Parts: sequence; structure tokens; C-alpha cells
Amino acid sequence: MADQNEYLPQPQGFATTAIHAFQDPEQWDSMAVVTPMVASTTFKHYDPENFKKYEYSRCGNPNRDVLENCLATLDNGKYGVCWSSGLGAATAVLNMFTVGDHIICGDDIYGSTNMLFRQVCSQFGLELTFAEANNIESAIKTNTKLIWVESLTNPTMKVFDIKSIAEIAHKNKILLAVDSTFVTPYFQRPLNFGADLVIHSISKYINGHTDVIMGVTITNNEGIYKKLKFLQTVMGIVPAPFDCYQVTRSIKTLALRMKQHMKNSLEVGQFLEKHPKVEKVLHPGLPSHPQHELFKKQSSGCSGMLSFYLKGGLAESKKFFDSLETFTLAGSLGGYESLVELPSLMSHDCIPEDQRRVLKITDNLVRMSVGLEDTEDLIKDLKKALEKV
Ligand SMILES: Cc1ncc(COP(=O)(O)O)c(C=O)c1O
Repeated sequence: MADQNEYLPQPQGFATTAIHAFQDPEQWDSMAVVTPMVASTTFKHYDPENFKKYEYSRCGNPNRDVLENCLATLDNGKYGVCWSSGLGAATAVLNMFTVGDHIICGDDIYGSTNMLFRQVCSQFGLELTFAEANNIESAIKTNTKLIWVESLTNPTMKVFDIKSIAEIAHKNKILLAVDSTFVTPYFQRPLNFGADLVIHSISKYINGHTDVIMGVTITNNEGIYKKLKFLQTVMGIVPAPFDCYQVTRSIKTLALRMKQHMKNSLEVGQFLEKHPKVEKVLHPGLPSHPQHELFKKQSSGCSGMLSFYLKGGLAESKKFFDSLETFTLAGSLGGYESLVELPSLMSHDCIPEDQRRVLKITDNLVRMSVGLEDTEDLIKDLKKALEKV
């Protein structure tokens, strides 16, 4: 097990914030301890010009407000804006820019984000360059307005140095957005390292129960917040009140869940590293990861995410998946249940083949989201499946 002390210190008061922030029962007439679910789409006005706080639910809703404020605080930000999916969050961020603007995107990102950037950016006249970490500075042009990276990246688990990229971005008056979905605010807070925007697919760890699709953008910059809040209202990419209610409930256990995801994934990663049928494990929490030291400098732990290369190709991967019982073959990640998937044919099949080849997203690369089951059972399942490969 990696030495927890080598990481950044854990954020102070994280669980208390998740449980209580913006959820004071005294704000509700009923004094309900759990924020009441407000399904109403509309709210009564005093007169045509005046209303109490809410007017129409696309523009604002008590459940969404509570969640947005709480999530912003957890990421050490001032302003949170929730969206109907992680991709909805990315769509909104792209809409902050205009024809002729140039965007630099980290080379390894989730397949649908890649597709959004490649196919939709060009439709709206935005210029796009994919760049690996070392080439970000040289990709900057006079019209560059945004650098977008995932850190950790999906699915090859690369780490981008958030502080140094933020310095490069700001020197050139460019915004830095970090998709921090794989690490969560419990373990990584990109705003502390100079990022202007943090994005999460809430559908993953933040909700953690594989039953809500949602996204969030968090910032300390009032100008960015105002633009995003406007886009939220007029583009209508809003989450439902019930989903906000569910996620507000889920985040109360985020700290507990993440500690266990970290423990379980390290044990599973260590098991895989020693297995003769495994070529290589990519886990930022293991010393074998080439950016383990950088990862520890900007995070206080690792999640349940890892990828590994099986020895062999597609046939071996299929045999492995066929024999698993506790792990489920399914896209997505970050829930309490353990999932495996094959990025080349599932989450990243929409990425052009040449880009996949460069990123080494091959048919023997397995992405794994280690859940909260007992690790002995997970390892037993993997042992059995690897024997069949
Ligand atoms: C890193 C990352 N960002 C964004 C997304 C998109 O999120 P959503 O599925 O909520 O739209 C995903 C989905 O898998 C992801 O893995």
C-alpha cells in the first residue's frame, strides 16, 4: 500500500462540508433536516415584477442551488453550476467561446468528449489542437482561449501537471479547465493549483451509485460563473430536481467511499502487477506509474481507477471478460460496483484509429473501476478469470 503521508494532506472538514454545507434545516419552513425535494417547475410571484427567490425551475431550483453550492465548496471554489450530464458541462464550456477561437485539448480524454471537441468544435468555427502534456506550450497560438485537460486521463491514466499548465495558460491569458472526474474533489482540487475551471462528470464518483447522469463546472472567477449561469438558463442543459436531491444524498458518503476505493484499487493493482498474464498496470497510486511522484504532488490520494494491458489481444480480453463474475463488463465508472471495459471497442471506440494507436488504446488495454466489494472477492474473481486467458 502506498504511503498515504507522501500525498498532499487530506482536505480539512471535507465530510462535514458534504454533510452540512448549505443544508441548514432552518432555511426551510418545515425545518426538515434533509433538504426537501421541490419538484414544482414554477413558483408563485407576489406581482409581475416580484417573486420570493425562485421563478421557474430551469432558471433556479432549491435542490440544484444546495447541490451547486455544496459541490463548489468541496472543490474549494465559489461558484458551482450543475448540468444534465458531464458532456452537458463540456458543451456549455465550449459555448463560452466564439468563431475563430482556438482550443487546446489534452491528448487523452474520454471518447465522447473527444468526439464533442473534434466534431462539434469545427461546426461552430472553433479551432482545435490535441496536445500531449509536453507540447501544450508549443501548441499555443495568438487566438488560443482555452486549455482543456483531463487529469487523470481516461483511459491511459496520464497525469497533467496542473500548476505548471496553469502558469503557462495565465502567462498567455488563456483559461485552464481541468476535468477532474477520475480523482474527485476529495483527492484533487485543481483550483488550488491555478485552474480556472473544474469539471466533473457527477455520473461517476460524486454520485457513486450508478443511477444519476449529471455534470458540474466549478470556478472562483465571477465572470466565468456569470457566463455559465447564463448558458445554463438559456441552453437549458439542467439536471432534474430529483437527481440533485439524489446527488446531495450521495456526496455525504463521498469521503468514506473514496478512502475505500483507494484501498481496494491499490490492492487489486498490486495483485495485477504480479500476475504473469498481465503485461503492465497503469495506476497512479503505484510507484510503477511513471508520474506517481507528480500525482502525489497534486492530490491527496487515488480513486478506484486503473487500466492494465493483458498479455495477448482481443481474443484474450474477451476470454477474460467472459470469465468474470463479480466484475461487470460495462462502460462508466466510479460506482460502488466494480466494472471493467475495453476502451478500444467501448468508451473510446469513437476515437480515430491513428489517435488510438498513438495513445496505446489497444485491444488488450482493460480499464477497471474498482468498487467497494470485499477485495478478497475481487481478487478471487480476477485470479479465476486470468487463469482462463
Ligand atoms: C473523464 C470523463 N469526463 C466526462 C465524462 C462524460 O460524463 P457524462 O457521461 O456524465 O456525460 C466521462 C464519462 O465517462 C468521463 O469519463
